[in-house]
Amino acid sequence: LGQKADLRARQILTGCAFATKAQTVKKTLQASTAAAGKESFSAIQEERREQAERSVLISCPPNINQKRFLDYISKHGNIQNHFFYQSYGIYAVVEFSSKDSIAALKANCTIPYVQHEAAVPFKSRLISLKWTGQGSQANASNTLKLQKHLPIAINELTQHLSKQESIDQQLQCLTDLYQLTEENISLRFLVCSLLRDIAAAYFPECIIRPFGSTVNSFGKLGCDLDMFLDLDGISGQNKKKGPGLSLEYHVKQGTSERTVTQSVLSVIGECVDQFGPGCVGVQKILNARCPLVRFAHQPSGFQCDLTANNRVAMKSSELLFVFGKLDVRVRHLVFAIRCWARVHGITSSIPGAWITNFSLTVLVLFFLQRRKQPLLPTLDHLRDLADPSDQCIIEGNDCTIVSDLSKITLQKNTDTLEKLLQEFFEFYGNFAFSSMSINIRKGKEQNKPESSPLHIQNPFETSLNVSKNVNTTQLERFVALCRESAWLLEQKEVLTRSAAQSADVIPPWGLTALLLPSVAQSAGVKGRRKKKHHPASERIKTLLESLKGNSGGAGAKQNAA
Ligand code: CTP
Ligand code: MG
Repeated sequence: LGQKADLRARQILTGCAFATKAQTVKKTLQASTAAAGKESFSAIQEERREQAERSVLISCPPNINQKRFLDYISKHGNIQNHFFYQSYGIYAVVEFSSKDSIAALKANCTIPYVQHEAAVPFKSRLISLKWTGQGSQANASNTLKLQKHLPIAINELTQHLSKQESIDQQLQCLTDLYQLTEENISLRFLVCSLLRDIAAAYFPECIIRPFGSTVNSFGKLGCDLDMFLDLDGISGQNKKKGPGLSLEYHVKQGTSERTVTQSVLSVIGECVDQFGPGCVGVQKILNARCPLVRFAHQPSGFQCDLTANNRVAMKSSELLFVFGKLDVRVRHLVFAIRCWARVHGITSSIPGAWITNFSLTVLVLFFLQRRKQPLLPTLDHLRDLADPSDQCIIEGNDCTIVSDLSKITLQKNTDTLEKLLQEFFEFYGNFAFSSMSINIRKGKEQNKPESSPLHIQNPFETSLNVSKNVNTTQLERFVALCRESAWLLEQKEVLTRSAAQSADVIPPWGLTALLLPSVAQSAGVKGRRKKKHHPASERIKTLLESLKGNSGGAGAKQNAA
């Protein structure tokens, strides 16, 4: 599984979406040399974007069989890659070799006649394949291989983890099971491309780019799809004009960048709502610090957040990607901490005073920079190694980072994942949050510039606090859980895997033990009604008992959850 995880990680790095087995192996081998692939972050994004432009999303009839599907669709052009998945029905993503094939397919496609209602005649690349007449009798003699787009349930996950031989293997296994698949990433780029077609009615040169966990290499199956509308290609560079006549567009002006962003998003949001096939529940949240349009894209099942003018966030996604690429342990540790935090309600899918995954990731990166032998360099170091061509200033913020990763020399750190996990909890269980700020630019804590309970300096917009939303209660819960987990990882019973009680049931140990319902959580959550309040030490004793396998206790409870 460890090897498989590595292979997947390398696949992500090479950006070989939908690659055939042979291609994958070839690319994987290429990527494993030197700095694990020379392709830069932007080159990978560009490749995926271009693939998405040659792709269509097809809703399939229930009893379709693969051969029949491919025979019919390939009449319109050569199919480079394809896969099927289930959302509200069966869907196929088809990537043609050439964009022209999409025109051929569309030429064969009609606007449906809908009884009692009326259709918006918008010809998108979201297409339905229907049986006509006799065909509908056909049955799916060869069952379709459906790609998985949702993470496995927590009890299934813990079963997989318990079967591993070491804590290091558990972390690798978790990454392998949770991370985005090539197909899922391709579908995300395709959804961006479909939305671009809507925005392009006003801004033909615009691009809609995914950012956040879709591209930063820390995305978990089922995570939201963060996108931003990039209009920079339209403004272009201000060309130097020689003497004589020149032309410029007469444009409407807003009072600030923000008001222009709001009005563009408002109109695009309206179009998505009124014309966007499969887009439902559109909400315009234009007064947020970062104005956005939120909606669900039903055919993909993605929860989407569309922003505009958000190039700094794209740069932070690149930064996370770079850190994730420098050492495989980074991703494993981040996936484990994110999962641990989610299980214990430290993070939540509902916005609020919780720590976000982004903040949590920065906490992990900072911890890795603070090792005796730092596992990661500082952001200032990544900036110092940059070429002149890497220079990037966005709204006055220096967002420069080196793109050629072979220039980065890492220190020799041989810590196991088990040790890193243990020391992460110790580090944050004892961190001086009340006076210090987390700073990955300097790789060192700094005095807090303001009084938020948790202060994590935004790596690029340095006057901002990434975790401004977090309140004291949530920070205290995080610290209490870190302490409890650090303590658990000192226990012999937790560190070693005991024999299986029956064929398949292995008592929780290692990472699995950390995912059990917590003592600190039950004791620390205010306002929640608890049935019983045992003193903490007694509850820890109970938890430990259940880990020893003397009873099904906590493990059984979790499996039932
Ligand atoms: N972001 C930021 N400052 C914040 C929150 C978010 O700069 N306070 C940027 C980060 O680049 C982040 C992106 O916005 O990656 C998307 O935010 P979010 O969806 O909250 O985080 P993800 O990293 O995408 O994680 P998740 O899997 O929870 O969606
Ligand atoms: Mg996100």
